[in-house]
Formats: sequence, structure tokens, C-alpha cells
Amino acid sequence: MFRTHSCGELSVAHLNQKVTLAGWVQTIRKFGAITFVDLRDRYGITQLVIGDEINNHLDNNPLGREFVIQAFGFVRERSNKNKNIPTGDIEVNLESYIVLNSAAVPPFTIQDDTDGGDDLRMKYRYLDLRRSCIKNNLLLRYAVTRSVRNFLHEQQFIDIETPFLIKSTPEGARDFVVPSRMNPHEFYALPQSPQTFKQLLMVSGYDRYYQIVKCFRDEDLRSDRQPEFTQIDCEMSFVQQEDILDTFERLVKCVFKEVINIDLKEPFERMSWEDAMWYYGNDKPDTRFAMPITNLKVPTWIFKNKQTLIPKTCVLENGFPVFDQAETILAITIPNASEYSRKQLDELTEWVKRPQIGMNGMAYIKYQKDGNCKSSFDKFYNADNIMGIASACSAKPDDLILILVGKEEKTRKAMSELRLDINARMGNRKKNEYKVLWILDFPLFEYSEDENRWIAKHHPFTAPHPHDIDTMLNNKPAIDNPHEYLKHPYCNLKANAYDMVLNGNEIGGGSIRIHKKELQEKMFESLGISEDEQKKQFGFLLNAFEYGAPPHGGIAFGLDRLCALLGGSESIRDFIAFPKNNAGRDTMLNSPDFLEVKQLSELNIELKK
Ligand code: AMO
Repeated sequence: MFRTHSCGELSVAHLNQKVTLAGWVQTIRKFGAITFVDLRDRYGITQLVIGDEINNHLDNNPLGREFVIQAFGFVRERSNKNKNIPTGDIEVNLESYIVLNSAAVPPFTIQDDTDGGDDLRMKYRYLDLRRSCIKNNLLLRYAVTRSVRNFLHEQQFIDIETPFLIKSTPEGARDFVVPSRMNPHEFYALPQSPQTFKQLLMVSGYDRYYQIVKCFRDEDLRSDRQPEFTQIDCEMSFVQQEDILDTFERLVKCVFKEVINIDLKEPFERMSWEDAMWYYGNDKPDTRFAMPITNLKVPTWIFKNKQTLIPKTCVLENGFPVFDQAETILAITIPNASEYSRKQLDELTEWVKRPQIGMNGMAYIKYQKDGNCKSSFDKFYNADNIMGIASACSAKPDDLILILVGKEEKTRKAMSELRLDINARMGNRKKNEYKVLWILDFPLFEYSEDENRWIAKHHPFTAPHPHDIDTMLNNKPAIDNPHEYLKHPYCNLKANAYDMVLNGNEIGGGSIRIHKKELQEKMFESLGISEDEQKKQFGFLLNAFEYGAPPHGGIAFGLDRLCALLGGSESIRDFIAFPKNNAGRDTMLNSPDFLEVKQLSELNIELKK
């Protein structure tokens, strides 16, 4: 046996016992004739003491950082206890040790606050994974998947694997493709999700399916996106939206309780897509803090049902040309910030002018403590007008109102980012506070002016709201004048879809599916997919719907995102054992890489010069 105990388990209960440990040398400290070694394994760190008696041994068998050793000795109580580690009350007095393997000097320090930069850590990821902060992330991930599996098993879900070498799935990103040697000129696509397979499993009668499964999407990467990521993918038959929301609310609640001992409040808050866009500027609002957006003016063609909510107290007509000409005017109110300095306001203005945000500038009103308002556009309006805007924004003395104006979509996105940034500066985006909500009532379609066609907001298998099915079936998708697409009845159709949002991140999404052939064909037709193309791409699904497809629906959670948020981070990379960098590269393997000409020719591929 290599070891009698792990490096994380010895305590005063083991005093005077003879033990054998095995692990990696974390640190070596020499104090005169005595040498202290911290020995590390997956379970913790134990201090070894090399005394006078075996110092010769040390001279003949020198130790270095990350050497792998087997250590034999007796457990002793420490005189100088270390309260920071579980084994801090004891140390092991070495009688002897064996160097099992030496190690080159690691390129960075193997500790939480390492001196290694991102690139170096990724190149030597196997060393990075030794650091306890990353190890804890992987342990958390394991705790999440265990909890998920147990919960779903209890609920009679079964885990069924689906293939990776498949045909394109339309989840909205580009496919990764794999050439087929046996079928020259033909390519498999890697699944962006197992969407169609889980639906086919419903047709086959496996009424509760799940899979913790890799998905592949060739899209631009961000801190919460990887080209290959993992979903907790689920599907159920004979359910309506309410059944799905209830089941997966319980799943998420169970994971929070079991993994980080947090009781989430039930039922989760629900918000319509339109409210999310109106009050928070995006469809995944961070609701750990309020600070809703005040809409001072919005184009009449959008948010039709919200027009009446625009406060009457703000008189914005015919004063300030920038406001007059703007499509949309949005404001947020920051409490107790009326004394922001010129410098702070300039800094915020520069922030909104960055290319990623893209605004031309920012206006403000300081509602001073003395009850008067001072704004960046004082010369265009009288004091009553400005007070009218302040009261529309529900501002109180000592508040600061920030205003962005411009094109609807861009301005709303910018205001949503500004709201997040301000609240991050104010310390309102606390890591250990969790706010979960469902976003419901998404539009079924979006119109792409570039492509001049309808696009599915979720994916093409999502059913319309039950009360919108007839409108969809009875209207033709064609649009005569693309500039007037907002008049088309399709703009009013809602999807029977839902997203789960945690602290401003989309952690899951799904829908009730179309299970009737005619409606699925109508959906494809609406998306501009010709009959021929429908048969070619989705013939298998349309056929399957002819053989008794049950009503069904499902959801998929982003496991990496869920783990990162549970671990207090928004970057998913540190919760994946071997992630890709922002350019989609594995710098450790140096992948992707070029192929030999021989391999290419076997695949019938000739590269363009
Ligand atoms: P969707 O595309 O919304 O739905 O994906 C589900 C969840 O997966 C996570 N996610 C990602 N995580 C990391 N990197 C990525 N590149 C990435 N893309 C998505 C998100 C998201 O909420 N088949 C449908 C689900 C269904 O309808 O049942 C689907 O894949 O957390």
C-alpha cells in the first residue's frame, strides 16, 4: 500500500501513530537543522518535519517543488498550530522518505494566488489543476452533476446517450463539421444540442429523458461561452409549460441546497420578455438590485402595450434637438449620487462612448439635496420641465439621473450595460446573493431585415402559445414591404418558451415543442425553408410526427454556467478541466492543428491556397 492516510485527514486523534503518506512537495523551508515540507495531495496538506537524524538522507535525496514522494513517520502535535488548515494541529516527524519521481521547476507557483498568467496556466493546465482553487471548482462541478443525477433519477428520468456524429441542428450558431472518409465529400456535423434526438425519444415513448452532454457551437467566445460546453439536457412527454417550470424549479432548488446549502425562495419570480426588455433592457436581467429603466420616449412601433406607461410628467417635446430627434430616451436613477463630480460623470460618459457600448454621449440630471435640479441640458428646458423628468424617474433629492438617447435597440442594450456597470461599482452585484427568475412569453419570431425573413427566437421546434396557433396557421409569412414588417400578425405571436436567469445570466432555456406535422411544416415554411429543404434537413422528424408523437417539452441548462455561478464566478473556464482559450484553441495540445497531406487526401480534401 502506498499510503495509510491522505494528506488531508490526520489530526490529534492520530497522535503517535506510524503513518505513510504520498503526495507532491508543495514547499520546503529550512530552519537550521530542521526542514519543514508541506506535502500535498487531492485531500489537503500535511506538514512533514525532517529532523537531524535523516538530514543526511535529505542531502543524498534532495527534494524540490512538485517532487512526488512517499513519506514514513509518526504523527506529533504541533507546538505552533496552523488554524487555517484542517491538519494544522499536527505534523509528521519523518523517519524516511522515498522520492517516487522528481519534477522540473514548475513554470508558475502551484498555489491559489499563483504568479502564472492565463496563457501559461492553460499551456500547463495539468499543473494548474493542482491548485486548490481549481480543484475545488471541479469538486463543486461533481457535486452539481451528482445532485442533478440523483434528483432526476428520483423523478424517473433516464439517462440516454445520443450520437455526436450527426447532421446540422439549427440552434443558431455555426456547426463544427467532421469529414467522412467512408463517404467522400460528405460531412457530419457535431450537435449544437441533442434537440431533435430528445424529441425523437419522446416519440419512442421514453417520456422522461435526460443527459449531461457535450454540445458544440462555433460562435464567438466570451467569458460565459465555450465552443464545447456541457448541457443538462431534459425532455418530458405529456406536459405543459407549468409542469416543466415546476419540475426544474425543484431541480435547481435541490442543487442549491445540496451543493452550497442555500435555500432559494419558491416559486421563482416570473417576468415576461416584454417587461424584462422594458425595465431592464435585456432578456436576462440581474434582479439582485432594482434600478429599473424609465422609458421617457420609445418608438411607437415597438412595445405597443407599454406606450401608456410612459410618464406624462416629462415634457420632452421641442426643446433639446438631441432628445427631439432620438428614437428612444431611457433613464436610470442612482440613489444618493447627486454629488458625483465632473470627473466621475466624464468617466461614465467615456464608458458609454466605448465602441462596445457605442453611445454618442450621456445626459444627466442632478437632483440636489436642496431640492433643485441641475442638468447637462439646462439651457433647453425650464426648471419645471426638468423636475417633470426627475419625477417621471421617481427621483428624490440627492439622486442622480443618467440618460441615454438613440436608436431603440442600441440604446436599450447600452442602458442595460450601464445599469450593470453602475451596480457593480456600487457593490450591488454580490457573489453570494442569488436571484433566480423565469423569463416567459418570448416572441415566437424575430424579423431579420438583413436576410428579409423570419427567424425563430428560440429554435424552430418551439411551439407557439396555444392561443396563437391559429393565427400562425391562418396567416401567410410573406411580407410585401420589409419596412412595415411590424404590422405583420407574426409580430404578435408568442412562443411557449421559457428561460431561467440567475444573477443576470441565462442558465437554462427550453420550450413546449411542436408535435404535429402540419404545424412543424408551417413553422419551417415561415422560416423560409422550402419543402425540398424541409425533407432534406428534417424529413426524419416530420416522418416521426406521423407515427404518434406525444405532446412534449423540455429544457437544457448550461452546466458550466451554473457551476461558475454557484462557485461565485462568471467565467466558466475555471470550472472546465480542459477549456479552450478565447481564440478557441487548446494551447496545451496546440489544437486545432494542420493535417498531413496523406490524411487530407484520404478524406478527399484539398486545401485552398
Ligand atoms: P440553448 O441554446 O438556450 O437551448 O442552450 C441551453 C443553455 O446552454 C448554455 N449555453 C452555453 N454555455 C456555454 N457555452 C456556450 N457556447 C453556450 N451556449 C448555450 C446556456 C443556455 O441557457 N436545445 C435547446 C434547449 C431546449 O429547447 O430544450 C438549447 O440548446 O446556459
